Amino acid sequence: MKICTSKQALRTQIKHWQSQHKTIAFVPTMGNLHAGHIALVEHAKTLADKIVVSIFVNPTQFDKAEDLQAYPRTMQADQQKLEAVQTDLLFLPSVEVMYPSLTDVCTVQVPASANILEGASRKGHFAGVATVVAKLFNLVQPNIAVFGQKDFQQLMIVRQMVADLDFDIDIIGLPTVREADGLAMSSRNAYLSEDERVKASGLFREIDKIRQLIEWGRSDYLNLQNEAMRNLEKQGFVPDYIEVRRQQDLQIPNSDDGELVILAAVWLGKARLIDNIAFEINHFDYS
Ligand code: PAF
Repeated sequence: MKICTSKQALRTQIKHWQSQHKTIAFVPTMGNLHAGHIALVEHAKTLADKIVVSIFVNPTQFDKAEDLQAYPRTMQADQQKLEAVQTDLLFLPSVEVMYPSLTDVCTVQVPASANILEGASRKGHFAGVATVVAKLFNLVQPNIAVFGQKDFQQLMIVRQMVADLDFDIDIIGLPTVREADGLAMSSRNAYLSEDERVKASGLFREIDKIRQLIEWGRSDYLNLQNEAMRNLEKQGFVPDYIEVRRQQDLQIPNSDDGELVILAAVWLGKARLIDNIAFEINHFDYS
């Protein structure tokens, strides 16, 4: 696996592959890699000739509530995992390389859909994500980029950015990889104590219960959300939001919307956990 820490070294390698008409698939990450990330890389390998992974803990997408310094960094283990799945290139830039200046710079302006849910709780988060992803896309010039669906809203905003700003890149979203008890794999699970780790799967159980109840015919989404919030509070979570939305634009569903997603964000101790379940319901007209 080739490791590039400078933009110049990365660009030289990318140009070389392009001159050989190789296709490139890209998996952007912030490191602390788990089976979910590796599934993205494995899938990327089936889609292109060369696989590029980036590890960059992007300071511009953190807000005060989450400590940038405390974000888990496990570089050696990450490199071994990427070697094991035959990643072709790891891009490992420093903050200085990515952002020679952090003030008075051009950034991506995100649409209003970036201000709800995660965007409402984490001000400026999606502008930070979109800007770094745009920079990485320009550097790596991939044909395909692969993201996890655990960050449902992030994936939606990346897709919209790619469409609106005419990036010639296919965006692939892959299902969330879960632990045996249902907890969505996440780098942030590292913040959980042993006791919290046991409780943490309660989040998936609670949103999956909402899915089941909707599939059985309930459509009083507000009640379902409130019940789930209360149940989670009883289990020791501090819920941020539990919302039933439509998949297409994350707005509140109308009675005839069939493609739904339940999105959740909760605090458990020092960890802010997010999860979602996307599913479809059929509305039968018995009239
Ligand atoms: O999903 C992540 O890990 C990050 O938001 C991303 C896409 C790598 C941008 O920093």
